[in-house]
Amino acid sequence: MFITLEGTEGSGKSTVLERLKNWLMEEGHGVVLTREPGGSRLGRTLRSILLDIASKDLTGEAELFLYLADRAQHVQQVIRPALDEGMLVLCDRYADSTVVYQGYGRGLDPKLLHQFNEVAVRGLWPDLTLLLDIDPEIGLKRAMSRNLAEGICNTEGRFEAEAMPFHHRIRDGYLAWAAVNRSRFAIIDASKSPDEVFEQVTAAVQAKLTQAS
Ligand code: TYD
Repeated sequence: MFITLEGTEGSGKSTVLERLKNWLMEEGHGVVLTREPGGSRLGRTLRSILLDIASKDLTGEAELFLYLADRAQHVQQVIRPALDEGMLVLCDRYADSTVVYQGYGRGLDPKLLHQFNEVAVRGLWPDLTLLLDIDPEIGLKRAMSRNLAEGICNTEGRFEAEAMPFHHRIRDGYLAWAAVNRSRFAIIDASKSPDEVFEQVTAAVQAKLTQAS
């Protein structure tokens, strides 16, 4: 089974992923936790370029092809082999991030981006995509306080430094894209307490596991 997590900045993805991984392992699943960008060796180099604030002058198209290169390598080198071994793969962001960030966020055509994704993923679409949905004003406050606590100021922060209208386009884009792909998306209300968020997550995952068995 292949499960992806999507969401805006500060939606609590990392916390949910770690908890979900532990829960699934307790339930007896072999789990591979990975992420985009940066899930492969090549991807780690691409990630440092993509998330560096000094890459601000990347053109929209150059940025897009770096994300796609990261994904193509990740699918073939990491995700597909793990699924073939019977592992459950949990991925922090995947193809939907490209449609939403480069499409709804940066203004490239979402339909065209979906086609580029088709090339990069070679038919590998998630069984379930958990969308952690939260008002960007609240999410950004969370992300900023996390960055301060971790001493991050000018690296890994390029997207968090974007203006608020961008973050609103991302949230609205996710909701629009989830509506188009209703059968594999589960929308989680990420404004709730961590335990309530996790309850929604486990309910969606359990339903998918039951359906698959
Ligand atoms: P990351 O530090 O992993 O943050 P987050 O906790 O928000 O996942 O940053 C990944 C950033 O890359 C995030 O802002 C979204 C962006 N992104 C894209 O723009 N397109 C993509 O295809 C992917 C995978 C990520």
